[in-house]
Amino acid sequence: MQYAVVTGASRGLGEAIARQYILKNVNVVAVSRSGNEELKALADEKGVDFHHVNCDLSDMDDLNRGLNQIVGLVFHKDTHYVYLVNNAGVIDPIETVGQLEADAVQKHMQVNVTAPILIVNRFVKEANERDLPLGIINITSGAAEKTIHGWSTYSSSKAAINRFTQTLALEQEGKGHTILAYSPGVIDTDMQGEIRSSSEDAFADVEKFRKLKEEGELRSPDEVASVLMTLLEKQDKIENGQVYKLYDLVGK
Ligand SMILES: NC(=O)c1ccc[n+]([C@@H]2O[C@H](COP(=O)([O-])OP(=O)(O)OC[C@H]3O[C@@H](n4cnc5c(N)ncnc54)[C@H](OP(=O)(O)O)[C@@H]3O)[C@@H](O)[C@H]2O)c1
Repeated sequence: MQYAVVTGASRGLGEAIARQYILKNVNVVAVSRSGNEELKALADEKGVDFHHVNCDLSDMDDLNRGLNQIVGLVFHKDTHYVYLVNNAGVIDPIETVGQLEADAVQKHMQVNVTAPILIVNRFVKEANERDLPLGIINITSGAAEKTIHGWSTYSSSKAAINRFTQTLALEQEGKGHTILAYSPGVIDTDMQGEIRSSSEDAFADVEKFRKLKEEGELRSPDEVASVLMTLLEKQDKIENGQVYKLYDLVGK
């Protein structure tokens, strides 16, 4: 049995990735605060196991509770492969330094950095005890490598995820896991809506992002998820620890 644990599968890119796994007959555990009835219906139609773990990744107690639930669902004697897609993410706070609020920064780092690190930490422990291979995909962003006015928190959290992915790959060499980060480019999701609603004071490039939407430059979540799936099919060609960028995989 194969499982894919996808965080942030209620909408956006995570929903599209979860859908692709279901279509490939991989059992899915979707982790988020809200559910997704369409994924559940698709899984029922395909005869694939689908569980929604209701978990607020910004809350440490809820993360620990949710993690125990996920491990109970996924790591059992019939499991031979587990994918983990750390996709849940937030962009807020979009704000210049000096105007940041402590609570927003703390929540951001908890969702974008602490939660994925702790989920991977537990999965690696559980998998290595059972000699079970993992496919770990951390969703990152081009912002990790760019300096963007108003995005200090987001760029820092994604840069941290890239370095974490590289360190993890180094430590797990020879254990049979596939480990990568995926940078998906700009996608037509709620997150882009949040970006476009920023003020110019908080985010100097906001107009550029409004134009991307107007000019139809945003990719659909399904297209972006398909590119990831095609990459994962060439598992023997994947270099562990790499940040794979959609733009390099499909061209601009
Ligand atoms: N959109 C883009 O252009 C773009 C570009 C580069 C990288 N990315 C990255 O791609 C990933 C997906 O982004 P998206 O655009 O699909 O975002 P989105 O549409 O805003 O969806 C975010 C997902 O994360 C979940 N989430 C947020 N806070 C959570 C929390 N506290 N606990 C549990 N789940 C939480 C949400 O679920 P609930 O609200 O139901 O909890 C939702 O499913 C993110 O890591 C993002 O940084 C996006």
